[in-house]
Amino acid sequence: MASETILQVTDLVKEFGGVRAVNDVNLTLPMGAITALIGPNGAGKTTLYHLICGRLKPTSGQITLQRENLPGKNITGLPPHAIVKSGIGRSFQITSVFPALTVRQNVRAAAISRMGRQFDWWRRVECDRPLNQAVEKILALVGVQHLAAKPVQNLSHGEQGLVEIALVLALEPRLILLDEPTAGMSREDASRIVQLLRQLNQKTGCAFLITEHDMEVVFNLAETIIVMHQGQIIAAGEPEAIRSNPDVRRAYLGTVPQ
Ligand SMILES: Nc1ncnc2c1ncn2[C@@H]1O[C@H](COP(=O)(O)OP(=O)(O)O)[C@@H](O)[C@H]1O
Ligand SMILES: [Mg+2]
Repeated sequence: MASETILQVTDLVKEFGGVRAVNDVNLTLPMGAITALIGPNGAGKTTLYHLICGRLKPTSGQITLQRENLPGKNITGLPPHAIVKSGIGRSFQITSVFPALTVRQNVRAAAISRMGRQFDWWRRVECDRPLNQAVEKILALVGVQHLAAKPVQNLSHGEQGLVEIALVLALEPRLILLDEPTAGMSREDASRIVQLLRQLNQKTGCAFLITEHDMEVVFNLAETIIVMHQGQIIAAGEPEAIRSNPDVRRAYLGTVPQ
């Protein structure tokens, strides 16, 4: 695997009954870059995403993660917590966090889960300096210090989107998978998320794979776009090449406009 690659997917297949939702997919993701995964409804994007983060096991094929200065690691079929530990962070559903706890407490809980240590109920977590410093750093990186003392359940939809990203960062990933991070948001909130993702990519060098249906977000953010259609990758390349690719236009529109 080339040293500048963080993830390599080889001959990946996922069948549901007779349906091949992911049909022989091959792709590589570059280290430190933002890649968007797009395609019409039912193309297989979410299935591919679940295969990478371990929620689904592939029918066949291989997924290899490459971290800086480490040998490539075969992560195919590992359970989600092992894949997180290997360095792939996935977005939390805001519904799976602790809604009555504050933003700071939730980020702290995510950081503790990453450290994999037993939660010591007899130790005052407020006294744990390295942990607290890591939590404050993440809150600052995402720009949500002003929300730190608020219960998650009291946040607006846009604020929850920011907190979801803070929770992923607490897992200390080198590759972050985000499934439609701006879904249901106002234009203003969505562009705030886009700006944040670009900043995080630059500051942390973390790679991103983003499934997204909002084309404005995709073309604004991604250095590389991968297009899926009927379980297969039909195009991959820079935004301008994808925009003018006839196969892509056919997949979306059914015809190629003259
Ligand atoms: N758990 C499942 N059981 C059966 N079929 C599924 C399941 N998940 C997805 N599919 C099918 O796989 C195909 C791809 O779905 P999906 O990965 O959700 O596409 P996308 O995210 O691109 O819209 C669809 O035909 C869908 O109906
Ligand atoms: Mg989907």
